[in-house]
Amino acid sequence: MPQLKLDLEPESLGRPFAATSTSTQGQPSSSGECSVASINSAEAAFSPVWTPAYQVGRASLFHGDCLDWLADQPANSIHGVVTDPPYGLVEYQPEQQRKLRRGRGGVWRLPPAFDGHQRSPVPRFTTLTASDLDALDSFFSSWADALLPTLVPGAHVLVASNPLLSHRVAVAVCRSGFERRGEVVRLVMTMRGGDRPKNAHEEFPDVTVMPRSKWEPWLLFRKPLAGRVQDNLRKWGTGGLRRISSDRPFGDVIASAPTRPDERRLAPHPSLKPQAFLRQAVRAILPMGEGVVLDPFAGSGSTIAAAEHIGYASTGVESDPEYLQLAKAAIPLLKDYEPCPDSVSSTDPISR
Ligand SMILES: C[S@@+](CC[C@H](N)C(=O)[O-])C[C@H]1O[C@@H](n2cnc3c(N)ncnc32)[C@H](O)[C@@H]1O
Repeated sequence: MPQLKLDLEPESLGRPFAATSTSTQGQPSSSGECSVASINSAEAAFSPVWTPAYQVGRASLFHGDCLDWLADQPANSIHGVVTDPPYGLVEYQPEQQRKLRRGRGGVWRLPPAFDGHQRSPVPRFTTLTASDLDALDSFFSSWADALLPTLVPGAHVLVASNPLLSHRVAVAVCRSGFERRGEVVRLVMTMRGGDRPKNAHEEFPDVTVMPRSKWEPWLLFRKPLAGRVQDNLRKWGTGGLRRISSDRPFGDVIASAPTRPDERRLAPHPSLKPQAFLRQAVRAILPMGEGVVLDPFAGSGSTIAAAEHIGYASTGVESDPEYLQLAKAAIPLLKDYEPCPDSVSSTDPISR
């Protein structure tokens, strides 16, 4: 099994990147419209001021801040978003990342070992201050404002979150003009919560301070439709979600094991999401299997790898040069990764 080590040369972060691409294939017309027939060639529909840091198959990965990148994209050029942003924002800021990489201090904590296995660090969101929460609200407002015009009408946006923070993200995104379309529940046993009161375990043996978390919310939004769903599907190829099969609609609960150690070795990012889950989510986001899927917080490139596995065109943006380098190496490995059968829900087979 190939493995990656997070021992990476930082690249300079500059924006926008030097222009080398002059392709206009798949660009929306001057009216900002793009027919269903042209959306499969929309891989090249991005602003020429940004040059991909990496390209493979139908995927492009850009290095930079996604707010800057989104601001430079043409209107109506993205057909779906599947993303796992920094839930609390602070945990992916440079100072917290330095602490994580040094293994000392900050919001990243090592959960207690379980069944003899040392667990990976996870960020603690109960320590966020009022000003951290205000910053979170304003970040997701700016993000949703920047994202909305780049999406075609009816595009779905699936955003990973955390039960302690998801309400704030949902309010910010809806205020920008998105419709809330529910949540996809990733049923996953985490080691969050379930503890007795700190330093008073023996005094309160029957008390749990917070429920042991057994699920992860993925918030689902949609850019308002142009007309009815059928009109939108005809014109833009979006507006609904792709069915699992003719007799099975996409459902909003997906059983998912935590990301397994062999998959983590391929892509050692602290927030790696498993392919077994991502492939189901990414497949569903393009109802006709046509268009471009965006992950603006690409991390290890796991969403891009899932899109490549399925055969969808995709684009990622990642701001951290170390994770960008990691993604370049990890995308081909994750694309071909065979999830262990028990990490795939028996009710949700992944077809391409
Ligand atoms: C929660 S992680 C995503 C991990 C990903 N789901 C995976 O499986 O590898 C969020 C990522 O977003 C990146 N990030 C944070 N702020 C960003 C921004 N403004 N623009 C682009 N990337 C950003 C972080 O460096 C981090 O790699």
